[in-house]
Amino acid sequence: MARKIIIASDHGGLRLKRVLVEALKGWGLEVEDLGPDCEESCDYPPFARKVTDRIVGTDPAEVLGILICGSGIGMCMTANHVPGIRAAMATNEYMARKSREHNDANILCLGERVTGEDVALDMVKIFIETTFEGGRHLRRVKLIEGDETQTK
Ligand code: RB5
Repeated sequence: MARKIIIASDHGGLRLKRVLVEALKGWGLEVEDLGPDCEESCDYPPFARKVTDRIVGTDPAEVLGILICGSGIGMCMTANHVPGIRAAMATNEYMARKSREHNDANILCLGERVTGEDVALDMVKIFIETTFEGGRHLRRVKLIEGDETQTK
């Protein structure tokens, strides 16, 4: 289970980020909050990049990222531009679980204007505690990045 979480938001996700940071610390996890720390309107891509820079090359069994904006969509689009990042936009527990089990997602994207706090907390807990199943899913994850040596 990952012990370290790298998190950021934009202004649209700031309130939910604050709730999650407190909860994550309460669960005994190490948390790196890469901003923002005020409610002023800001652009989400630079904050997504701060997290992807820290996640690329790390082991999801040890480190995971969380990105929050109003819808979750802009953060997810930005993060998935970065090779090595598998960012999953989730709105329910099933999506959060499968993103780890089947896709080895290394970043969870949430929408503060979409998802209530309690559901978000449940999803984050599941995302962190769920391990990648490997096997056929490993081949598929490698195919995401165009590894043509992967055959059935
Ligand atoms: C900000 O208003 C909003 O566009 C942003 O938080 C996010 O939802 C973008 O995808």
